[in-house]
Amino acid sequence: MASRDTTSLLVGLLVLFYTWGVWADVEVSMEDRVEVFRGETASITCMFTSTEGIGGMIIQWFYVTRTGEKQKIYYQDSTMQFVDRGTQFTDRISVNGTGASEAIVLTIRDVRLEDELEFICLIKGLTDGTGEGRTKLKVFEKPDYPTIEGVQTGISVSEPGPSKIATCEVKNGYPKPNITWYRNNAPLRVAQDVVLVMPSTTTESTGLYSVKSELSMMVMKEDKDDQFYCEITYFVPGGVGMLESERINITVYYPSTAVSVWVESPKGKIKEGDSVEIQCRGNGNKPSSFVTISHDGKDHEGKMLLLENVTRRDSGDYICTSTDTDTFEDITGQISVFVNYLDPAVVRPGDTIVVPQGNELKATCNALSSLQTQTVWFKDGAEVSVGNILTLKDAMFDIAGTYMCVVTVPEIEGMETSGTLHVYVEGPPEIMQPEYTKVEESFENTVDLSCTARGFPAPNIVWTTSDGKILKSASQTDTDDGVQSVVSIKVTSDITAFCNASNEFGTAAVTFSITATINTTTTATTASTPTSSTTSSTTTTTTISSATVKAETAIPKQSPEKVKQEGRGVIIAVIIICILLLAILGSVLYFLYKKGKLCGRSGKQDLTKEKSSKDNIVVEMKSDNTEEAVLLGINGEKLPPSDQSGEYLDVQK
Ligand SMILES: *[C@@H]1O[C@H](CO)[C@@H](O)[C@H](O)[C@H]1NC(C)=O
Ligand SMILES: *[C@@H]1O[C@H](CO)[C@@H](O)[C@H](O)[C@H]1NC(C)=O
Ligand SMILES: *[C@@H]1O[C@H](CO)[C@@H](O)[C@H](O)[C@H]1NC(C)=O
Repeated sequence: MASRDTTSLLVGLLVLFYTWGVWADVEVSMEDRVEVFRGETASITCMFTSTEGIGGMIIQWFYVTRTGEKQKIYYQDSTMQFVDRGTQFTDRISVNGTGASEAIVLTIRDVRLEDELEFICLIKGLTDGTGEGRTKLKVFEKPDYPTIEGVQTGISVSEPGPSKIATCEVKNGYPKPNITWYRNNAPLRVAQDVVLVMPSTTTESTGLYSVKSELSMMVMKEDKDDQFYCEITYFVPGGVGMLESERINITVYYPSTAVSVWVESPKGKIKEGDSVEIQCRGNGNKPSSFVTISHDGKDHEGKMLLLENVTRRDSGDYICTSTDTDTFEDITGQISVFVNYLDPAVVRPGDTIVVPQGNELKATCNALSSLQTQTVWFKDGAEVSVGNILTLKDAMFDIAGTYMCVVTVPEIEGMETSGTLHVYVEGPPEIMQPEYTKVEESFENTVDLSCTARGFPAPNIVWTTSDGKILKSASQTDTDDGVQSVVSIKVTSDITAFCNASNEFGTAAVTFSITATINTTTTATTASTPTSSTTSSTTTTTTISSATVKAETAIPKQSPEKVKQEGRGVIIAVIIICILLLAILGSVLYFLYKKGKLCGRSGKQDLTKEKSSKDNIVVEMKSDNTEEAVLLGINGEKLPPSDQSGEYLDVQK
C-alpha cells in the first residue's frame, strides 16, 4: 500500500516539474545537416519553443573545432548582439530573428571547404534554463571533366600478367569523387590477376581532391575492338552527380594461328621467264613475328618473295613460317608453284629437206611443253597446215621454199616457239617463160636478157649464141627455188641467144631472138624526143630519107614489143613510098610514050597492066581522068581515098 502511494507521488511530482519547466524549459530543434556548394550561401535554422516571453532569451551560435571544443561566433540578448571577432566566420555571418519569432537563422555567405563544421545553436532563458541544437554543414564542389589516356603501344595477348590499359583522372572535386571503369558499357569488376584498378588521391592546395585511377588487364584477341572509358560519381547537395570520360580503344597484338601463302602475280598460270611474287600473311598482327618463305632448303626472310625470270627448276612447294618471337612457336603454310615451259621447236627430219619431184614430203615439228600445244605451219607468211605434221604430196617446184612452224600454248598468252624448214624439190631445171623472147633493138644498143630457172640442185645457166659463142652473164642470183641469170648483149646484128639451164637431172633451154633495126631520127626530132628505150644505153642514129623519119619518131619506143611494131610500120611506109615513086615514073614514061605513039599510031590503046617490082602490088592508072593513082589490093578491092591519107597501109602477103 505504502509503495503504491510513493509511486503516485513521484508521477505527480514529474507532471508538476514538467508543467513548471524545471527540466526542459527551452526546446530547440535543428536539421541534422545542411548541404551547400562551395561559394554559395548556407542558412542554418534554429527553432525553439519556450514558456517564457521571448524578450529575455540569450541566443548564442558556436561551431565545433577539429579538437572538439566549442568556439562561439555569435551572441545576442535583450540588450545587445554581436559577432565574435577573430574567427573564420567573423565577416561572413549574420543572424536574423531577434527572438520575437521562434526561429533564428544563421546565414553563412561564400561558404568555404573549411566551413564544413558542426554548428550549435544555444538558447538560454532567464528563468527557464537552456536548450541547444546541432547542425552539420556539408560543402560540395563538382569536379572537372575527367581525362582518359590509353597506352600508346599495343598490348600483346601473350603478356604473362595484366598490362596497363589506361589511366583516368578527375580533378578538383569535393568530397572525393569515385572512378569506375567500364568496358563496352559494362562496369569492369576487379578480379585477381585479371583486372586491376589502382586508384590514388591527391589533395590539392585548395583542399579539393584529385583522383586518378589506373586500369590494368590481361587482354585477349577479342578485346581488340573493345572500348574503354571511366565514369566519375560525385556527391552534390541532395544527391549524386555523374560524368563520363571519352571512349578509347586499344591495340591488341595477337599471334597468328594460321598463315596463308599465295602467288600475288602473275594471276593464272606461270611460265618460264615470268616474275613471280609470292606473298605470305599470318592471321595475327604481332609486329614481332618473324616470317620466312623457304623453298628447296633455302630461306628468304620476309612476307614477300620475288622470283625473277623463273625456270621449271623453281617449281615446287614454298613454305611460309611465322614465328612468334615471344613464345617461339612456329606456324606454317605452303603453296605449290608450277612453272610451265615450252622447249624450242624441233623440226624433223632436219631444218633442210630435199624431195625428189613428184614424191611426198613429210616433216614434223614438235616442242616439249608442260601444257597442250598447237602447231601451225606457215610459208611466206600464209598458213599452209595446222598440226605438227606437214605433208605435201606430189612435190613440185611450187612447194619449194622456207616453211615455219609456230608452236603456241593456247592456255598462256605469249608462250610460243618456232622452227624453220627449208624444202628443196629435186628435179631437172624448168625455165620460167620469159616476158619476151623476141626483141628488136637498134644497132649498137644493149639488150638485157633475163632467164629464171627452177630446179634443185640449183641449175647451172649457160648463155650461148647460135654461132656457138658463150656469153658472159652480167648477174646471177639465187632464188628460192633456183637461179636467175641476166646477160647484156650489144646489138651488132640479128642474134639468136640460148639460155641453157642444166643440173644432174636434166637440161632446159629457152631461145631469144634479137632483131637489129636501124633506128633513125632527124636532128630536130632527136632533140625534142629523147629515146626512152629501156634496153638501149646508147643512141645511134642513121639518117636516111625524111619521109621515113616521120613514121618512126611519131611513136616513141616503149618496149621491145613496140619496137617490133614500129619497125614493121617503117618498112611498110618505105615500100608504099617506093611504089608511089614507081607509079609516078611509070606515068611519066607512059605519057612520053603516048606522046610519041600519037604521032605514029591512031585509036584507043588499052591500058597495059604493069607489074611492079613487088609482084603483089597492082597499080592501076586511068588515062581519062586526072593522074590519080588508085591503090588496089591483090584481090582487086578498091580502097577508099581516105585510107590513103594514113601513114601506114597494111600490105597483105
Ligand atoms: C580505335 O581508335 C582509333 C583512333 O583512336 C580509330 O581510328 C579506330 O577506328 C578505332 N577502332 C575501333 C575498332 O574502334
Ligand atoms: C565512393 O566509393 C565509396 C566506397 O565504395 C562509397 O562509400 C561512396 O559512397 C562512393 N561515392 C559516390 C559518390 O558514389
Ligand atoms: C642450148 O640449147 C639449144 C636449144 O635446145 C641447143 O641447140 C644448144 O646446143 C644448147 N647449147 C648448149 C651449150 O648446151
